[in-house]
Amino acid sequence: LENGLAQTPQMGWNSWNFFRCKTDEKVIRETADALVTTGLAKLGYVYVTIDDCWSGLERNSEGDMVPDSKAFPSGIKALADYVHSKGLKIGIYSDAGLYTCQLRPGSLKHENDDASLFASWGIDYLKYDNCFNLGIDPKERFSLMRDALNATGRTIFYSLCEWGLDDPALWAGKIGNSWRTTDDIKDTWESMTGIADINDKWAAYAGPGGWNDPDMLEVGNGGMTYQEYRSHFSIWALMKAPLIIGCDVRNMTAETYEILANEEVISVNQDPLGVQGTKVHAYGPDGCYQIWAGPLSRKRTVTVLWNRCSKAATITAEWDTMGLESSTNASVRDLWKHEYVSLSSTKSFSAKVEAHASEMYVLAPAASEAA
Ligand code: DGJ
Repeated sequence: LENGLAQTPQMGWNSWNFFRCKTDEKVIRETADALVTTGLAKLGYVYVTIDDCWSGLERNSEGDMVPDSKAFPSGIKALADYVHSKGLKIGIYSDAGLYTCQLRPGSLKHENDDASLFASWGIDYLKYDNCFNLGIDPKERFSLMRDALNATGRTIFYSLCEWGLDDPALWAGKIGNSWRTTDDIKDTWESMTGIADINDKWAAYAGPGGWNDPDMLEVGNGGMTYQEYRSHFSIWALMKAPLIIGCDVRNMTAETYEILANEEVISVNQDPLGVQGTKVHAYGPDGCYQIWAGPLSRKRTVTVLWNRCSKAATITAEWDTMGLESSTNASVRDLWKHEYVSLSSTKSFSAKVEAHASEMYVLAPAASEAA
């Protein structure tokens, strides 16, 4: 969507993966505080989004949505002001149907009123879900809200959550700044790997202005190992996925922080070229030795060696599978160890990768480094 936003994938935090419906204004305020004090905000995580369950069960007598009076007694405008005072942006959630998935009022047929209400509160981001949609064409339903947001005159990031559809990337680019390519992520290795493979198919449709969304991060929620979470974060970054933290940032472990705060990995995600990296090669048992790669600005290449087998293995990346001339002389920098593993390599390089782990590298041709 050409609204000037999403030149690189959006970064931030969302309440759903950890808090589900147990969200309230205290959680949101403390999360905003924590994003700032931990330094995550400075690294780019600026959108703080309240997912489903912020709203009361019914609209008021004027037909307006009203925040749940127990969870958000001070109202959303006050919360938005607070989040803005921290230098952050605030996101909210609604649904392109009669109800949200948790049975709060949906915005179908109320698009203009709801969009103006959100704008009057100072909302910067809307995540727009797909429950109870009466079988109406999604292009129509999601376009109505795009136009309503546009008509408010406020610049609002538009994140489509049209899960359950087969081919969203084919049409969503003109409607939203990002669109979900899969059903909901779960905090498991199987879910995360399956979602990565589905999202990979739509790589050609991503770019500045609109991104494939393989759903929010589970890093830090406890269902995967440190190595699995590192793979999750590395691949999401390489795929130019929105980096939306889904854990309780007020209580992160050092390992969780190390993953989410890896500046070198984040800068791959935020690279101005904006090309989604893909799975370029899979070999070994069931293709579980995988090479994911993609181009970056300044003629650089990002590569993830991902071991999806259950035993450690040495994985080799050939220059030509990554789209490089085999004679190209490139430096190889390890983005997790934060060091160069080689200043000048040609043809290929190999690394030992633990089970379910990923190693991530940037290859920079010697010539462009010097330039
Ligand atoms: C379905 C979405 O995919 C989730 O991310 C979350 O927003 C829930 N709905 C909320 O009900």
